[in-house]
Amino acid sequence: MNIQTWEIEDRLRVMGKYFDLDALVARNTDTQAVGKYYRKSDFFYSLVHNRGGKCIHFGLSEDGSHHKDDFLGQARFVGSLLDRPSMNILEVGAGKLFNTRYLAGEFPNCHFTALDLPNRNFLKNRVPSNVELREGDYNDLSIFPENSFDVVFGVETICYAESKERVFKEIYRVLKPGGRLVIFDGYEIKSHEEMTEFERRVSAITWTAMCINPSDHYIGNIRKYLEASFSEVEITDLTRKVKPTLRRIDRISCYYFMHPQLIRFTQKHFPIDANLNGIAGWLLFLTFDGETIHQYCRIVAVK
Ligand SMILES: C[S@@+](CC[C@H](N)C(=O)[O-])C[C@H]1O[C@@H](n2cnc3c(N)ncnc32)[C@H](O)[C@@H]1O
Repeated sequence: MNIQTWEIEDRLRVMGKYFDLDALVARNTDTQAVGKYYRKSDFFYSLVHNRGGKCIHFGLSEDGSHHKDDFLGQARFVGSLLDRPSMNILEVGAGKLFNTRYLAGEFPNCHFTALDLPNRNFLKNRVPSNVELREGDYNDLSIFPENSFDVVFGVETICYAESKERVFKEIYRVLKPGGRLVIFDGYEIKSHEEMTEFERRVSAITWTAMCINPSDHYIGNIRKYLEASFSEVEITDLTRKVKPTLRRIDRISCYYFMHPQLIRFTQKHFPIDANLNGIAGWLLFLTFDGETIHQYCRIVAVK
């Protein structure tokens, strides 16, 4: 047993004292449940992850330590593809609009559409005039005509897709010929057949603690789905760059699990969805090792 396995086992033992991990991996993760999870967790994300800010994703750090600016890494990459005026850009799973808001300010001559699930007060956001808000589910993008967008991007959201294959087909349909898909997300490095039973369980606990369905995160399958229609599929491993954010989350989660009174207090006063984030927070730094279980990738593909 290597030191990482030993450490994860030890943490699971502690978590198991306070949370039913078997019930966790069997939890409902359909799109309705995801909407509810975010309604209950938005406050937690703002307070713990982002100190009052609006981003719900990992930072991309260049120098091995976490800076607030790192949260702009994904949007800056999308911006590097916006090379002419009047481009049409769709952000799927836009959350609190951190990425779209930044890009809309940097590219006032481009038009941005941001989509997120209903019942999250999404349409109540105040946005600049070059941003349009739409409520909906990216599993079905029929609210948009085909060949509408030059770029479609999603940051840490396609992991929630009920069928990634279907979402890619939908995005392909709404992209203009030559248009680009950009995704930033976490993936499994090995197929479930290649994983040990322990790796499969740890991975499932990590996903479900964030209300993500534990099946179909193998990066090999993702490439296969994309290459069925897209060309120039480029997958870049950025695990090293998210480690500083994960280390920060790891420390906060460790503090949580080392203080039983705090756990009992939050279990009594905060929704279960928000509490379960502590489990993911205490696993992500170890499982995102880029070698055995998870990796963080940027994917670019052309229609
Ligand atoms: C981890 S947050 C990321 C938010 C934002 N992309 C960011 O970078 O800050 C995931 C977002 O995806 C949204 N989401 C999940 N499933 C979705 C679906 N089927 N359709 C649209 N949005 C979805 C959630 O509501 C949530 O806002």
